[in-house]
Amino acid sequence: MHPAALAEKPLEKTMNYFEYQNDSLYCEDISLADVAKKFGTPFYIYSSATLQRHLAVFQSAVKEHGPCLPCFAVKANSNLSYLHIVFRAGFGADVVSEGELRRALLAGCKPERIVFSGVGKTKGELRFAIESKIKSIQVESPFELDHLFEIAKELPKSIVPVAFRVNPNVDAKTHPHISTGMHSSKFGLTESHVLELIKKIKSSGISNIEIKGLSCHIGSQITSLSPLVDARQRLVDMATKLKESGVELSYLNLGGGLGIRYDQETTPQLQEYAKKVCKPVQDLGYEVVLEPGRVIAGNTGVLVTRLLGIKENPKKTFYIVDAAMNDLMRPALYDAHHDISPIKKSSDDQSITVDVVGPVCESTDKFAKDRAIASGETGDLYAIHSAGAYGFSISSNYNTRRRVCELMVDQGQVIVARKREQYEELWAQEIEGLEKTKSTTALNPTSDGV
Ligand SMILES: Cc1ncc(COP(=O)(O)O)c(C=O)c1O
Repeated sequence: MHPAALAEKPLEKTMNYFEYQNDSLYCEDISLADVAKKFGTPFYIYSSATLQRHLAVFQSAVKEHGPCLPCFAVKANSNLSYLHIVFRAGFGADVVSEGELRRALLAGCKPERIVFSGVGKTKGELRFAIESKIKSIQVESPFELDHLFEIAKELPKSIVPVAFRVNPNVDAKTHPHISTGMHSSKFGLTESHVLELIKKIKSSGISNIEIKGLSCHIGSQITSLSPLVDARQRLVDMATKLKESGVELSYLNLGGGLGIRYDQETTPQLQEYAKKVCKPVQDLGYEVVLEPGRVIAGNTGVLVTRLLGIKENPKKTFYIVDAAMNDLMRPALYDAHHDISPIKKSSDDQSITVDVVGPVCESTDKFAKDRAIASGETGDLYAIHSAGAYGFSISSNYNTRRRVCELMVDQGQVIVARKREQYEELWAQEIEGLEKTKSTTALNPTSDGV
């Protein structure tokens, strides 16, 4: 779909372009059954029109009351073609490793729009970030500052822009595995730690370290605004105290975390978020930085899978599909819900209660448990919805499975954003070792005479 057509869709209409046409599921104007025929299964497919729409709607909301730089959380979806669309829309990047930073740069993100978070950045990663001239390093562990002192001395002509990730001790009221803002979590620094580190910088005599801001990120899939408002207020209070003591900040980063509707959740309206979370910071004259991931990417993609067969055990019926937990980890990691719908609806509209499982040898390899889904036959195709965030990016090669291909519908075309892996790629880094092992085995044959 052409971006110009986006504006014509009313906002309250479904926020994604995965819709049925004559009982067949389409991504924009492309039939997913046709895509499966051409590329095989399983595959991720993203809708560029949906992505562009989410980016535009998000930007217009958060910039309504003042300056704001939304930095897309690259961990949510790190595909280069996908990121290119994100950065082309004016987003920056929130990265948590040198790998993500390199991806962001390669996909066209301006370095001055990149912030770097993470509890364990190495000196090498920090040096690369500083040499790349990114917006700021968001320090979250005291030892990072020691690295930064060394780098600042080694690169006296470079500016070392620093922000501090604060742990505001706010309960995000989300799944414990994606809750990051409590003092029991490894993320961020307490207020007193931040003050100590600022003192250390001030007394170091190193003039090329510049203190730019504060950040926080209290968790993900947050469905109520109140924890985000509380965290914002902690940051504002800290910034005010710092200002009184002569430390002027230019930005406050309020992180990501906005939830989406996977199942029955009600999620905050973006306008309310902008008004309650961002505006009070913008009113004080700070630039707001945000790190949205899921809210942008979640509903931009689906994982398409084929029913390999049906298995009846005494207590359950299993639909065994060709995608597995290594392709989409969220259900196994967080018990996460993803809607599952047929690519072709049948006229009788029959449903059946089943467990939808993959072929991996783990009992957590399960996309749905005791779920009523459209009944199907071997060979039928299903879409696992809302898989655009933390889908492919957390996938792995477990069970020596090839990672699936990532496709993207863009302006009526299907782009192969990432090819399906070849088996040889899976062990390419092991062949040299295998050859060496074979030669030492030849010198020391085992009793089996290998
Ligand atoms: C530091 C940081 N910022 C932003 C995000 C993105 O969060 P979300 O996808 O919930 O918006 C994450 C993800 O957990 C994160 O760790």
